[in-house]
Amino acid sequence: MISEKMNQLINDQYHREMFSAHQYFAMSSYFLDKDLDGFANFFRVQAEEEIMHGLKQFDYVHEVDGKITSGPLEAPENEFESVLDVFEKALGHERYITQNINAIVKAALEEGDFATHNFFQWFIEEQVEEESLMRSLIAKLKLIDGNTSALYMMNEELMARKAGQEAA
Ligand code: FEO
Repeated sequence: MISEKMNQLINDQYHREMFSAHQYFAMSSYFLDKDLDGFANFFRVQAEEEIMHGLKQFDYVHEVDGKITSGPLEAPENEFESVLDVFEKALGHERYITQNINAIVKAALEEGDFATHNFFQWFIEEQVEEESLMRSLIAKLKLIDGNTSALYMMNEELMARKAGQEAA
């Protein structure tokens, strides 16, 4: 049995994961529009992973006799200044998600909800991987520094990413 407070915290996090998917689909769409299919694929896979994160939380809440109550999602950003700008915003968003996951884990510990504390350890690790992935792609983009052929090579590499796999 989960407390009302923990139920609410996870309910909010479920919405953040679904918003993340919404945002990453918008980024995917931005790249499709620019004929950068590999970058579009990267963010599509990222969006699919966010839905999986949300569903894990959805299932968990119901497993511990709570309930997910669906509410509205805010509108994502659709316009970006550059490829680098998209990745910097994605990293900023992942850092925000990490802070929220940390707050849930802290609250779970404070109220002695060890099941929730344990459940969210997977997300703690996942956030380390996601931030690291975004940082390494930002570093690559900075090295490339607008070189078109290098950008197209990176686009080809990102085309290969499939759900459940880390990118290059
Ligand atoms: Fe579900 Fe990218 O955090």
